Amino acid sequence: MSPTHSVVLTGGAGALGASVHRRLRAAGLTVYAPSSSQRSVVELAQAGACATQVDLTDETAVKQYVSSLPANGELRAAVLLAGGFAMGSLTDTSSADLRKMLAINFETAFHLVRELLPLFERRGGGQFVLVGARPALNADAGAHMAAYALSKGLVHQLAELVNAHGRGKSIDATVIVPSVIDTPANRAAMPDADPRKWVSPDSIADTIAFVLSEAGQQMRGSVLKLYGES
Ligand SMILES: NC(=O)c1ccc[n+]([C@@H]2O[C@H](COP(=O)([O-])OP(=O)(O)OC[C@H]3O[C@@H](n4cnc5c(N)ncnc54)[C@H](OP(=O)(O)O)[C@@H]3O)[C@@H](O)[C@H]2O)c1
Repeated sequence: MSPTHSVVLTGGAGALGASVHRRLRAAGLTVYAPSSSQRSVVELAQAGACATQVDLTDETAVKQYVSSLPANGELRAAVLLAGGFAMGSLTDTSSADLRKMLAINFETAFHLVRELLPLFERRGGGQFVLVGARPALNADAGAHMAAYALSKGLVHQLAELVNAHGRGKSIDATVIVPSVIDTPANRAAMPDADPRKWVSPDSIADTIAFVLSEAGQQMRGSVLKLYGES
């Protein structure tokens, strides 16, 4: 597959996304950044992204967005970081709680994957980078975050479906699985924890840049557990 020149990045104004955006720009990539809030769009545009306001839970809006992307064939990758988090055990989880997590963590990725997959196929290949979560792989870690774990579980399965569909077509999905990311929100929520044990956004950004590199393009169906010491 040819080198990646441009990439769709979701969640690009978030705690992890801002680092990933900087890293991808430093690698010389053009970044198309759909974001739900106007504030994030302004921030991303100021940082050099081609930013557009799109609610990624809205499938019609995503369809329109993807059809508006340049038709020059250089877009071969999508890094899908948009997501969110909620606490709550299985018995405390309402269907509204579940739908909220499914929308923000799964639908935001699913809608873009569905629209970009045929485009990558026509262009002879493409890469998806998705963000899973340890509670989706380890039920004990998900005991107090059931809706989150269930929604991220679907993200892991989505990657497997992409990889089954993309086999032999140079289309691949990698799942990045961070434990706890060292973000201001996590520092505020867990003041007694030791953030040195967490994973820095910059190290995740470096990993994603490697996945998109020519060497990284050789990987297939990878699930990269970035757990640090936590
Ligand atoms: N933080 C952690 O410890 C941790 C651990 C494991 C996995 N993760 C996962 O890593 C990813 C990034 O986490 P983070 O801590 O950087 O999160 P964050 O700071 O809360 O950023 C989340 C981003 O998602 C975007 N987003 C949410 N709903 C959207 C929608 N409907 N349409 C478009 N964009 C939407 C937001 O964009 P707007 O600002 O435009 O709304 C925001 O930029 C998430 O998927 C998260 O679940 C995080």
